[in-house]
Amino acid sequence: MSAMASLLFHLLCCLTVFWLLPLPSHSADPDPLQDFCVANLSASISVNGFPCKPASEVTSDDFFFDGFTQEGNTTNAFASFLTPGNVLSFPGLNTLGISMNRVDFAPGGINPPHSHPRASEVGVVIEGKLLVGFVTTNNVYYSKVLTAGHMFAIPRGLVHFQLNVGDGKALAYTAFNSHLPGAAIVPLNLFASSIPNEVLTKTFQVDADLINTIKSKFRP
Ligand code: GLV
Ligand code: MN
Repeated sequence: MSAMASLLFHLLCCLTVFWLLPLPSHSADPDPLQDFCVANLSASISVNGFPCKPASEVTSDDFFFDGFTQEGNTTNAFASFLTPGNVLSFPGLNTLGISMNRVDFAPGGINPPHSHPRASEVGVVIEGKLLVGFVTTNNVYYSKVLTAGHMFAIPRGLVHFQLNVGDGKALAYTAFNSHLPGAAIVPLNLFASSIPNEVLTKTFQVDADLINTIKSKFRP
């Protein structure tokens, strides 16, 4: 390659990188292009989001959601229950770039380490005492024990959890800048998926018995 061709090649590479760099910061849910777009969850076409229900079929009920009126059933291994208020349970949120969860905790309950690929999270504790923590990509851990009225923020994509450290139940509401933030739940991703044991034994530097013991906790 001549010196000129090599210079042009490097220039092109640099331009491509500079063009791509800002993309992640523009990749939150898109702004709506109309007043509303109530999701038609059963549409057969697939788009990035959901197609809109015809406006003539939209009713008041599309903009109200009573899914948070009931306490979640915390009789499970994590002693917590998350009720989502996202586009799948509340189609009126489609394209609005927002959603919420109700999170109930029995005493000692945990919302296990997880991350949201498409949203930052804020939350407020309504009842009880929660240890809320997250870890940065440099493995720095930030945490605080919160009680009723205290709010927290979790930057997008970072692994975080809430643990009920009080004597009674706890309740929190969380909110997201996405109509479908998604949740990658670390223990389930690793131990309830079909990732081969060989990957897990090498990753955690333990033997297969220990991996099988952990996997057995997550089998239905
Ligand atoms: C809490 O972390 C939640 O995702 O609702
Ligand atoms: Mn979360």
